[in-house]
Amino acid sequence: MRIATTINELKSLLQICRNEGKTVGFVPTMGALHNGHASLVKRSVVENDVTVVSVFVNPTQFNDKNDLKNYPRTLEADCKLLEDVSADIVFAPEVTEMYPEEDKRQFSFSPLDTVMEGACRPGHFNGVAQIVSKLFYAVEPDKAYFGEKDFQQLAIIREMVRQLAINVEIVGCPIVREKDGLAMSSRNTLLSAEERERALTISRALFQSLEYAKNNTLSATRLFVENIIAETEGLDLEYFQIVNGDTLQELKNWNECDYVVGCIALFCGKIRLIDNIKYKG
Ligand code: PAJ
Repeated sequence: MRIATTINELKSLLQICRNEGKTVGFVPTMGALHNGHASLVKRSVVENDVTVVSVFVNPTQFNDKNDLKNYPRTLEADCKLLEDVSADIVFAPEVTEMYPEEDKRQFSFSPLDTVMEGACRPGHFNGVAQIVSKLFYAVEPDKAYFGEKDFQQLAIIREMVRQLAINVEIVGCPIVREKDGLAMSSRNTLLSAEERERALTISRALFQSLEYAKNNTLSATRLFVENIIAETEGLDLEYFQIVNGDTLQELKNWNECDYVVGCIALFCGKIRLIDNIKYKG
């Protein structure tokens, strides 16, 4: 496994692969890697000749300074995990390498970016688009892998690639959960033991709502989840929305479309967590 810290180094490693006619898979991450990330890397390793993983905590996508400051940084352990799952190249640049000057680009992915995370975290998806487009220009991957854990991000990346006409196939990968159901997240390491216990209510509520949804209306199902969260001390709901999985717009009835996903965001103490569940599609 090779580690590159500059775009030039990365490009020269990749040039050697391209000269040999190899295909390139790419997994962008912010590090503090867990089995969710590993599942993306493993899939890329199976589907491509060379797999590049970026580890970069992107400042422009954090709308909360404390969140950026507290975000876990564990490059050494990340490299060990990446070596174990047979990644070929790790790209771990400094902030100045990715942003030698301020990135003034303003993206619009309306209406995908005006709802949910887009509404709660102003500027977040603009920052994601800034860094992922820069990374795509540097890596020029054949395929890039994103988790359905960040459901809205995946939809926005697909739209960005369409708008910018970047020649890459975006591959969505299923959510990886802890044994007890909690969606794996780098932020889970920031939870206290008590908060970790409370966080379990999120996936439980979502899975219970799958059953509940079979015999109840969409708005009753939304209330069902909202009430479970409201009744749990220490959880502070930001939103639970049942949306069209393609347009991300809120639905009123189950039969409005064939792809229906429930997306949740909440604070568990000071830690913000997201999760989602597919009802249809
Ligand atoms: P990060 O949160 O590190 O996630 C990197 C990738 O791993 C994303 O595509 C995310 O959806 C996926 N992922 C995280 N947890 C997962 C889980 N439990 N199951 C499956 N996939 C999971 O998302 C980002 O970084 C950043 O926004 C990034 C795209 C790297 C741009 O900075």
